[in-house]
Amino acid sequence: MRISDKVVAQLKDLGVEVRQGVSLSDLTSLGIGGTTDELLLRRYETVPEVMRMLKDENIPHRFLGGGTNVLIADGELPWVVLHLPAAHPGVRVDGNAAYVDASADLGGMVTFCAKNNLGGMEGLIGVPGSVGGALRMNAGAYGTQIGPHVREVELYRAATGKVETLRGGDIRFDYRHTSFAPEDVMLRVKLELPSKPFKEILAGIKVCNEKRRSSQPLNQKSAGCIFKNPPGGSAGRMIDELGLKGHRVGDAMVSDRHANFFVNTGHASCVDMLKLIDEVRERVRSAYGIELENEVIVWRN
Ligand code: EPU
Repeated sequence: MRISDKVVAQLKDLGVEVRQGVSLSDLTSLGIGGTTDELLLRRYETVPEVMRMLKDENIPHRFLGGGTNVLIADGELPWVVLHLPAAHPGVRVDGNAAYVDASADLGGMVTFCAKNNLGGMEGLIGVPGSVGGALRMNAGAYGTQIGPHVREVELYRAATGKVETLRGGDIRFDYRHTSFAPEDVMLRVKLELPSKPFKEILAGIKVCNEKRRSSQPLNQKSAGCIFKNPPGGSAGRMIDELGLKGHRVGDAMVSDRHANFFVNTGHASCVDMLKLIDEVRERVRSAYGIELENEVIVWRN
């Protein structure tokens, strides 16, 4: 979608940089996604005003975080994407509290806190993406989830059109799911982390990195696990047991390393990836009677 010069100029006045005709395949870890205009919001404070303007101008929009858990449609997209440029490091530490910008890199945040002798998040080290994205889906790995560390979240609430602060206790964090509304925009978070010597945290990080390297296709284009694990089960194990590793639709392929990772081996389209997801879901349903739920978020056009 292309926005008019008039709106581009209005956005510029709000400090928003508009990049026209951006291929979202360059902004996603899957390397899949069509073309649209990208709005870079350099200041968090402008989020409500920008959202209001887009609503007034009838411009559909989506908010893109790190782009690591999303599968985006092909072709010219009927909405623009909003994006908060990555903050470096985007973290401030005060005692056991870490104040983090939503656009900070999750791994960078874990490392920054570790250097300040704050631990508890070792398992999250290799999870790609932004802190805001991790917060929205309650990302987790190796026994660690971000949710239990959250004390406060500052967010743009789509329902009220305002920036609000929620207390951690008022947010539901479940397995790969939270009580945030889909249109809410994460802005900042306050985490409370246990004190731990840097060396000890580093040792934990090394163990997790090693486990991840030995079981996941880290050097291929993917969105991490495609499906959530069903209660008490493992999607990866079931798909593997069905002999589907290496199964492909075009350039979309079930990883031969970890069966719940679907990789883009070249120029996979969203259509290819969706077909692969449906085929695998169907095979699991007919063999195990289990309906796998997507973990990856699909943005259709
Ligand atoms: N397994 C297989 N074949 C496979 C993959 C896994 O037999 O191809 C078996 C493993 O041998 C193991 C079991 O399935 O016995 C579980 O595998 P793994 O330890 O890799 O964990 P997972 O349940 O597949 C989850 C998360 C990952 C996270 C790891 C480590 C989900 C959907 N996935 O994977 O998170 O990194 O545990 O904690 O919850 C993600 O969410 O994107 C993600 C990668």
